[in-house]
Amino acid sequence: MSFTSWYNRTLNQIWGFVEDRTAMRKWALRPQPDFTFKPSYWTGAFVLNAFLYQVVSGMLLLLYYQPSTNTTLTACGQPVGTQSIAPAAWCSTYYIIHSIPLGSLLLSSHLYGAYAMIFLMFVHFYRGYYLGVYKAPREFSWMVGTLLLIATLGMGFTGYLLPYTQISYNATNVGLVLALRLPTVGPLLGPLILADGTSQGLLSRMFDAHVLLLPLVLAALLYAHVALFESHGIAPPATSDPVQRRRYTEKEDKQHVPFMPHIFWYITKWGLLYTGLIIGIAALWPWNLPTYVGNLAAAGVVTEPDWYFLWLFKFVDFAGVTPVLAIGITTVLIVFVLFLPFLDRSKRTHPRDRPLWIWIGTSLLGFFVVMTVWGGETPGVQIPVMQIAYTIGPIFAVNGLATLLFHWQYRKSYLRRLAVREARMGGNYSMPAPVSAPGAIPEVKGIE
Ligand code: HEM
Repeated sequence: MSFTSWYNRTLNQIWGFVEDRTAMRKWALRPQPDFTFKPSYWTGAFVLNAFLYQVVSGMLLLLYYQPSTNTTLTACGQPVGTQSIAPAAWCSTYYIIHSIPLGSLLLSSHLYGAYAMIFLMFVHFYRGYYLGVYKAPREFSWMVGTLLLIATLGMGFTGYLLPYTQISYNATNVGLVLALRLPTVGPLLGPLILADGTSQGLLSRMFDAHVLLLPLVLAALLYAHVALFESHGIAPPATSDPVQRRRYTEKEDKQHVPFMPHIFWYITKWGLLYTGLIIGIAALWPWNLPTYVGNLAAAGVVTEPDWYFLWLFKFVDFAGVTPVLAIGITTVLIVFVLFLPFLDRSKRTHPRDRPLWIWIGTSLLGFFVVMTVWGGETPGVQIPVMQIAYTIGPIFAVNGLATLLFHWQYRKSYLRRLAVREARMGGNYSMPAPVSAPGAIPEVKGIE
């Protein structure tokens, strides 16, 4: 027997044993069609993988981090002669970076991992938006996803203060001013976030939220999100067919690829690549810890949040935009995303059939990108009304024009294709009529 066949047989035997004794197939997720062996079908799993990396690296950081604003006359491991009064939270962060073996790698990869998780989450969100995966029967998957989005951004917000740098302290305070202006929710949140009103109270609450409360919320939401995914199965490819079936039958499932081990290892392969990349980037470009809260030499530190909140900070710089207005518009945006499945009622999922929604989504994407770059370039600089109009107006106008042209061109080619088909079928083919009953999932053979 050749070595290769012996090796394969042994591996199969070991795997068979593990599979049998753990009853893995029973608890593994449902089988998936083979067209799902593409990264675009597993963007959510990549976010989940990023979350797991954050949990593991965060727990290791917890071994050394001290959530305290106590100032200790200590050098915090700095070169002798630079002794300063720094809060313990900052000192312990400094200690992790400079004195713990691989500490800098750990902290930097946790930070970059957070950026990556948020970025991947937006990729997952926009994929779902463009391909209409939120349509029946996946409305609740989308809504739970929106809550996950808010909780994930909350993780970013609360984690930003923990190193207790002056820049993060300033930005957190601006963020809190905005959050506490939320109608109804704001006054309720106030005492919960600010505790006894001291710096220590705020740091403790941010720490509790970051390491306990929000991870629990995220875990619970994730459980619901994955359970919903498991019940509905993966969304089929987007199509112009208004009577597309959006669920697979049990019989079809039996012909699909088992989740364990095939899909699982497919996702794991990407997960390992992700972990390697994050650690590699952290090794090449370690994060530099900015100066601590209360350092008198750092009086001129700019107030700047992490990149994913820059758009909101820039928004407050606009002439006439008060914190109440900014937070009001953000609330409208959240409500829009949350209820999108009930606003976009068309049955067709393909982007070419949903010009209005594509225009809104693409314009908002353009708006966020421009605002983020703008916020990074000129943080805190006031923007007059005319400049706002010249910069933001074209985003919506150009996107509107592009979407219209795209839709018009598509309708033309679609009608042409229909005419050809009709001629071929001797005039017996008519354009499919949209399904009228809301939420109806017609049983039609075949998925385009
Ligand atoms: C922490 C953030 C999130 C995590 C970890 C996550 C995880 C997942 C996972 C593992 C899936 C299974 C399919 C896949 O891998 O793509 C999934 C599907 C889905 N997610 Fe998320 N998700 C998150 C955020 C969101 C957000 C922000 C939305 C939208 C508002 C969303 C909407 C959906 C929908 C509609 C599906 C079903 C897609 C399909 O069947 O193809 N998720 N998510």
